[in-house]
Amino acid sequence: SAAEKGGYASFMLKEIAEQPKAVTDTLLGRIDGAGRLSLDEVRIPDAVLREADKVVIVACGTAFHAGLIAKYAIEHWTRIPCEVELASEFRYRDPILNRRTLVVAISQSGETMDTLMALRHAREQGAKVLAVCNTNGSTIPRESDAVLYTHAGPEVAVASTKAFLTQLVACYLLALYLGQVRGTQWGDEIHAVVRDLARIGDDVERVLETMEPVRALARSLADKDTVLFLGRHVGYPVALEGALKLKELAYMHAEGFAAGELKHGPIALIEEGLPVVVVVPSPRGRSVLHDKIVSNIQEIRARGARTIVIAEEGDEAVVPYADHLVRIPATPTLLQPLVATVPLQVFACELATARGNEVDQPRNLAKSVTVE
Ligand code: AGP
Repeated sequence: SAAEKGGYASFMLKEIAEQPKAVTDTLLGRIDGAGRLSLDEVRIPDAVLREADKVVIVACGTAFHAGLIAKYAIEHWTRIPCEVELASEFRYRDPILNRRTLVVAISQSGETMDTLMALRHAREQGAKVLAVCNTNGSTIPRESDAVLYTHAGPEVAVASTKAFLTQLVACYLLALYLGQVRGTQWGDEIHAVVRDLARIGDDVERVLETMEPVRALARSLADKDTVLFLGRHVGYPVALEGALKLKELAYMHAEGFAAGELKHGPIALIEEGLPVVVVVPSPRGRSVLHDKIVSNIQEIRARGARTIVIAEEGDEAVVPYADHLVRIPATPTLLQPLVATVPLQVFACELATARGNEVDQPRNLAKSVTVE
């Protein structure tokens, strides 16, 4: 009903708007005054976490994209090798698992059959399983060794939005916690990131306040057939997520690519007027990547692409090549997906609406997929 939607036209719009709170709630009580993480719910003993020699993340769809981003954070802050695999592929390839493997199963619903079967397989091989889940008491956390709950609140729209942002937060917390337990060399950086994370809800709010031009842009693209998404580093999974949202909601052909792969094939797709969304890494962090992606934007624009550039405030280098520029607040590199994903959600939602689609209940899809 309209009341359940809290005055919004759809649950999806309501859930997009709830993201600052969802992010803040997921951090609540997990960072103490001294900036140390306390994750009592991670019932796996510190000794086991110290000895883990591999992290394997399993998930589907949007949760899989959160896992892809988590890999960058886990490997950087802990130096533990991390693999990310689609849950539906995992057990069928005879993965290498043992008592020193920490498996992280990410699921909003906690009922996704593919993810459940993957975690069962992992436990049979002696691995410890930690669930990152948004639904209290659901099957996946019940069958795991431990659970780190996301506090997004109920997510009703089929397309996942606020659950995704909180999955990212939970994965960052887990990565930072592993770093803390293992005493990695990134101590100072970890403290700085914890501080930035505590403020990130405000950054998400600021993005939401500036979305009107993104809506107008989305409406102007309603008759297009294809939209491409490019990113690098953690912006690459963000590009995949932007493309998934557009497929689910707008029923358009949408693909995400790692920008460095362009010249290995996808650049052949570029033609006059093709909308290409580019997620630009911060010029302050991985500045090499920033410069490379600016060249990519130039290249595709020279071939006729209509460039939609998502770039940090103060990044002037992109201005000459952006047909549409979407500004996001400056954040540490690894945290950028928390702000960069939001315009892509709004874009997909508005485009779907402009095409006359029902955004909360896209055709052919179910909120949780309880069959393999
Ligand atoms: C996201 O927009 C999707 N509807 C879908 O990809 C979803 O993320 C996936 O099915 C996993 O669901 P889960 O998080 O409940 O396990």
